[in-house]
Amino acid sequence: MGLLDGQRAIVTGGASGIGRATCRRMAAEGARIAVFDVNGAAAHTVASELDGLAYQVDVTDFEALSEAVDDAVRRLGGLSAVFNNAGAGSMSQIHDWPIDQWNRLVAVNLGGVFQGMKATIPHLLENGTGSIVSTASISGTRPSAGEAPYSAAKAAVVALTANAALEYAPTVRVNAVSPGMIRTGMTEPLLGFDGMTERMVTKTPLARIGEPEDIADVVVFLSSDLSRFVTGQNLVVDGGMTLHGAGVDGLLDYFSAMLSGSGPN
Ligand SMILES: NC(=O)c1ccc[n+]([C@@H]2O[C@H](COP(=O)([O-])OP(=O)(O)OC[C@H]3O[C@@H](n4cnc5c(N)ncnc54)[C@H](O)[C@@H]3O)[C@@H](O)[C@H]2O)c1
Repeated sequence: MGLLDGQRAIVTGGASGIGRATCRRMAAEGARIAVFDVNGAAAHTVASELDGLAYQVDVTDFEALSEAVDDAVRRLGGLSAVFNNAGAGSMSQIHDWPIDQWNRLVAVNLGGVFQGMKATIPHLLENGTGSIVSTASISGTRPSAGEAPYSAAKAAVVALTANAALEYAPTVRVNAVSPGMIRTGMTEPLLGFDGMTERMVTKTPLARIGEPEDIADVVVFLSSDLSRFVTGQNLVVDGGMTLHGAGVDGLLDYFSAMLSGSGPN
């Protein structure tokens, strides 16, 4: 018997990294999955592996998102679990962020979660019970220099999670997960810098880089009956990193030094 037997789930950003690992874990625990991603080809690859549904959709486009949600719910035969996980990041100082890039990062990381909730909550209420998990970040709970729009958006995801938990209890439980440094498409380029993996491992009490499955297991827990008395929470899954700092601390100076030719300190 699986932890998610009979559940029907939508996972945004499900084509790669944490989202893909979660689609696989949810399916292994008995859920039927709809994979939503702006990368349609990769979403199809994941969905076909799991006998699931795939939708090419940008979470910042509410009309397209809600149409895809309605279609997925019809084809899945209902909806009981949502993982709002699509996200993207970048690095700069506040005075240097181009306004359109700030707007885009907030739109994807925060707007995408709000729109995911808005499109799916009516279906979860109709189902009579359900769970929403959204991906925040340790960058929201413990920001580092250089990540302003990302940190601000992720902190807001935690606040939005609390709002939604209050508004939809007792029918829908709403929680967030805040990953630390996880090896995915988003972090591979960073971890490829000379010495960066060792630097991150040193900053992590559990002494390794996280894997997408480390987050997927927690999302399965939060989507399952095991967490039936948990709502409005933000679960930090970072190997203990933020107990004494954050992996991104000092990276802005590191990259500035590289760009100016003086080399990293
Ligand atoms: N990897 C980490 O260390 C880490 C740490 C903290 C938080 N996170 C968060 O985890 C989530 C997943 O990231 P990941 O690390 O697996 O990265 P990833 O790049 O492997 O996966 C992100 C997925 O989201 C999709 N996506 C991006 N923008 C989208 C949009 N507008 N609409 C639909 N899909 C979109 C991408 O195509 C990709 O498939 C993100 O919200 C990210 O901010 C990651």
